[in-house]
Amino acid sequence: MQLTDTLRIHELSAEERAVYNSLKPERLPEHVAIIMDGNGRWAGRRSLKRFLGHQQGAKSVQLVTETASRIGLPWLTLYAFSLENNLRRPKAEVSFLMRLLRSYLENNVQRMMDNNVRIRYIGRTHELPTEVQDKMQWASETTARNTGTTLTLALNYGARSEIVDAFRALSAELARKNKPADHITEQDIHRHLYTAHMPDPDLLIRTSGEMRVSNYLLWQIAYTEIFVTDRLWPDFRGIHLLEAIADFQRRERRFGGIGEGCGEVEEDPARIKLAAG
Ligand code: FPP
Repeated sequence: MQLTDTLRIHELSAEERAVYNSLKPERLPEHVAIIMDGNGRWAGRRSLKRFLGHQQGAKSVQLVTETASRIGLPWLTLYAFSLENNLRRPKAEVSFLMRLLRSYLENNVQRMMDNNVRIRYIGRTHELPTEVQDKMQWASETTARNTGTTLTLALNYGARSEIVDAFRALSAELARKNKPADHITEQDIHRHLYTAHMPDPDLLIRTSGEMRVSNYLLWQIAYTEIFVTDRLWPDFRGIHLLEAIADFQRRERRFGGIGEGCGEVEEDPARIKLAAG
C-alpha cells in the first residue's frame, strides 16, 4: 500500500529510480521500522570521536526519510534512543544525543514540511529533558497536518516497558469498566501499545550486521520480515532502503500458513498412517 496521491518519484536520484522501477508497486510495504546501528563504529573506523558518528547518523535519518516520502511509504519508525541507551551510556554521550535531537528537529522541520512528512514519537518521552520535550512537541504540532509519510522516532523507548505500560493502562481500563481479566484479547493489548494507531511493520531493517532485535517493537514484529545489512547507519541512504524493499519483495510471507512448493496437502487426514515410534 502506497500513499499514491503524494508520490514524488521524479525527485528520486537516477540510481534510486532504477531500483524503484524494479519494485512491484502493489507489494510495497506499508510500514518499515529501522534499528539504526553503527554510528560509533563508523566514527571508530575513521579515528573520529563517537559524536561525529551520531551527527552523520542524523543526516542519514533525514535523507532516508525523504526517500521514504518520495515513494509514498506511509509509516517509517526509527529507533533513535532506547531506554537502555539512556541508562547505560556515559552521561556526556546521552546529553550530546539530546542536543543533537533538538538541533535535528530545529533544522529539519522545514524539510519535513517540504516533503509532507508528519513527525511523531513513541517511548517514555515524558522522562526526557523538558527542553527536548518542548522541541519535540513543536515539531509534531508544526507537521501534524502533513499527509505523507509519518516518521515516528522511538525515543527513550523499550519494547518490554511499552508492554508494561500497555498492561497498566489495560488493567486500569478493566477496573474502571468492572470487567474480568480473562476476557482480554490480543486486540485489547494492541489498543494500549504506543503504536495502536499504526499497522505492524512489514519490514524491519537493522544496520551494522548485528543479528538481534534489541528490545524494539517486540509485540509488533511477530510476522515482520527482517533485513540485516553490514552497512553502518551513517552510510545508509535512500537507495539502501529501496534495496531492502526489493529484498522484502522476493520473500514469501506466510503468517503461519503454508507456502508454495511446500508439499501437497493430504485431503483425508484419516488415511495417513503414522510411523511407529
Ligand atoms: C547506534 O549507534 C545509534 C544510536 C545510539 C541511535 C541512533 C541515533 C542517531 C541516528 C543519531 C541521531 C538521531 C536523530 C533522530 C537526530 P551506536 O552508538 O550504538 O553505534 P556502535 O554500536 O557502532 O557503537
